[in-house]
Amino acid sequence: MARQLPIGVLISGSGTNLQSIIDAIEAKKLDARIEIVLSNKADAYGLVRAQNHGIHTEVLDHKVFTSREAYDQAVVDLLLGRGVELVVLAGFMRLLSPVFVQAYSNRIMNIHPALLPAFPGLHVQKKALDHGVRFAGCTVHFVNEECDEGPIIIQAVVPVFPDDTEEALAARILKQEHSIYPRAIQLYAEGRLHVVGRKVFVDGLNKEGSQVLVQPPLEE
Ligand code: GRF
Repeated sequence: MARQLPIGVLISGSGTNLQSIIDAIEAKKLDARIEIVLSNKADAYGLVRAQNHGIHTEVLDHKVFTSREAYDQAVVDLLLGRGVELVVLAGFMRLLSPVFVQAYSNRIMNIHPALLPAFPGLHVQKKALDHGVRFAGCTVHFVNEECDEGPIIIQAVVPVFPDDTEEALAARILKQEHSIYPRAIQLYAEGRLHVVGRKVFVDGLNKEGSQVLVQPPLEE
């Protein structure tokens, strides 16, 4: 049996990405073990998802800490205490201070519901619609000290349609998030990701599987 990479998943809300990671592990498509699910919010539904699968959970409320650094150090201490090797941010609505980023340098992943570097920050599906882009998507990246800026691991692209609502586009993107996040973690678990500067190189990349997308489609 392959080694199970010990990971910690940080959430603040619904935890559908967490669920996709749990499901991939249970389906034996992801050689990882979730050592801890940590939330900064006690009412995050992702905590229930974790408990339903017997996963250890912790709530650490940022409001009881006097500084961002003190909070981050407490989180890092919990993660190190559980033997976590890779930190997976899955809807964790907090910016990380250098205390956190340096403790887990190039060992923190985040998922963002846009094709970075376009549309960092919040409300990005609305920004994509307002901008009139033809494609949107999601990005898994390593976390550095800038928000939504770190080296890109994997992206998925979805079409944007003229009658899209923010909700419809968000749902189309979220479905792809659930497929690429477990994939990115598995690539890490297999030791196939190498960060050089701001680029991530993937061992054994299959270029044949790549596609060109055109939207609206070209007419024959
Ligand atoms: C996702 O849209 C993710 O891209 C963003 O936060 C949201 C988390 O959703 N970082 P969920 O809690 O995984 O359902």
